[in-house]
Amino acid sequence: MRIPPEKIDEIRNAADIVDTIGAVVKLKKRGKNFIGLCPFHTEKTPSFNVSQDRQMYHCFGCGVGGNVITFVMEYEKLTFVEAVRSLAERLGIALPAATDQDAGLASEQEQLYQVMRLAGKYFYTALTESAEGKPALDYLKDRGFTPETMKTFGLGYAPNSWDGFVKHATENGFATAHLEKAGLARKRPDGTYYDYFRGRAMFPIFSTAGKVIGFGARKLREDDPLAKYINSPETPIYNKSRVLYGLYHAKDAVREADSAILVEGYADLLAVFQAGIKNIVASSGTALTVDQIQLISRSTKNITIVYDADSAGSKAALRGVDLILASDLDVRVASLPEGDDPDSFVRKNGGAAFQALLERSVSFIDFISQAYEKQGKLSTPEGQALAVRTIVQSIASMKDELKQNFYIKQVAEKYKIYESTLFRELERLRGDTRRREGGAPNAAPPRQSAPVQARTSEAPLPTDERNLVHAMLEGGAPVITEIFAQIVLEDFTHPAARSLAGFLQARALKEEPLDPSALVNDLDDPAQKKLVSELLFSKYQVRLDDGTDFPQADPRKIAKDSIVVLRKNALTRMMKENQLEMKSAISRGEDGIPYLERDRQMSAELKQLEQGAHPAESGLAS
Ligand code: CTP
Ligand code: MN
Repeated sequence: MRIPPEKIDEIRNAADIVDTIGAVVKLKKRGKNFIGLCPFHTEKTPSFNVSQDRQMYHCFGCGVGGNVITFVMEYEKLTFVEAVRSLAERLGIALPAATDQDAGLASEQEQLYQVMRLAGKYFYTALTESAEGKPALDYLKDRGFTPETMKTFGLGYAPNSWDGFVKHATENGFATAHLEKAGLARKRPDGTYYDYFRGRAMFPIFSTAGKVIGFGARKLREDDPLAKYINSPETPIYNKSRVLYGLYHAKDAVREADSAILVEGYADLLAVFQAGIKNIVASSGTALTVDQIQLISRSTKNITIVYDADSAGSKAALRGVDLILASDLDVRVASLPEGDDPDSFVRKNGGAAFQALLERSVSFIDFISQAYEKQGKLSTPEGQALAVRTIVQSIASMKDELKQNFYIKQVAEKYKIYESTLFRELERLRGDTRRREGGAPNAAPPRQSAPVQARTSEAPLPTDERNLVHAMLEGGAPVITEIFAQIVLEDFTHPAARSLAGFLQARALKEEPLDPSALVNDLDDPAQKKLVSELLFSKYQVRLDDGTDFPQADPRKIAKDSIVVLRKNALTRMMKENQLEMKSAISRGEDGIPYLERDRQMSAELKQLEQGAHPAESGLAS
């Protein structure tokens, strides 16, 4: 089980120390070296140095130092042999196995890497040297890719034959079963094999360590009836959700710039990279995943999403924003002109224009605001409320409370809203996510005490709250929007009704389907599920206070009266609270006037309601 010394050298040479340490310590380029905060002692100013040339690290603060293997030993608390194995595994280098089973696994992976490498070379040669590859070469040239780019990214051509690669690989000693496992060949019923990729331009996908692990294959002719891109299937060495196209080539630039640009497509990445902007990665066809964000976070905590201006693009961007924020990275969004993708934009306007576009990127707060503005929604108070809710939802997905505070302040300023109102909303959303994640509810003390409410789900559901949730379920998005134009979520006192109403509101906001069968699957709280099904089975009925049901009511009508009741109740509660607060303020010798003023406003509103006026005059059907 001894590891031969030449293997150890191979591993040390293959494992780049900046990558390895950069995966766990945030490093910044400083002259020839990289520096960061030492992971072995506590410090506020970085004295931990990593040299790429010498492949060594040293901390001037605590004196530790060594090479990539000692780093892994120290950092992961491993023995020398364990550290070497750990590195070998990450690099995909086969070692004499500790067990026979490991031996099988390691040699299989190694074989897959080898056959992918062979395929990469085969496609590249077919593109650059064969007559048959000429049209593909012309195609790529027409798209503006230089020979240098083709070489750097190993672009290729898969000849249009059934067994060109199968033959080539067999002649080179690879078993057909391995080709199949690597996703390069398929088996026919008669037991023979044929090429997986035929007649396409090939984009090799590299692992972070620079090994070919998969391919994206683009059609060359518009009349090709198959998909525009055919991608490698998942294999033991290729897991789509854990790979970012271009990361291997981009990671030094990402570290240097301390930011990564995120685009969608293969061609997008190549065009921008070729234009000299090299800190770029592509999610290439999969919706962005947490694993992909984690890969980026090894090199930087700043991501700029550049997405197509169409609605699919902006939806994907919105989704990406929340996911990135939830991973505690910072995100900005740059929007392309309508109809362009990064590739077409760079080809038309050049790298400097793309750089300028990046410089005009906006924070996620402004991005969400702009999205609503484009839809003309910011012109009404209701629309503004929706926009603010969406933004606070994004803020709630962050894990860092300090950052949350910071962003809440920004939103408060931008929309001229009391911070306390936003914090209350944030608190509510955060409570929800924590509960869903099974963590401690409200681990952080609320900054602003919400009205005291019965927290037991056994408490009976007040009739009007029940009616409102029912109306939302029956009436869908228009009714939900109208209701929330007149009351706030906090007006619901019953936990199940409140959380269901909040859930429906969020769904309506995101324009997700609201038909009950679709949404029941997404409810994870059994109490909510129960409430939905219960309400639906009492279809078109209103429960009167005496417990009898009044059949055939219109959801909007039900809502109209219940809104008034909820608002009245909320006002009464808030007035009581305000009076208590006033008393305690006065007893502390403080000014009671602001409380009196609030009391005056609230009682005026209450009076209006009692005289039959509506909370907001954007009337529901009467
Ligand atoms: N994609 C895919 N399969 C498809 C279509 C797209 O895997 N059938 C992935 C590819 O990674 C592609 C990315 O999604 O690069 C973005 O798709 P799209 O914008 O449609 O293509 P472009 O990248 O613009 O491709 P091209 O410029 O070559 O038309
Ligand atoms: Mn394109």
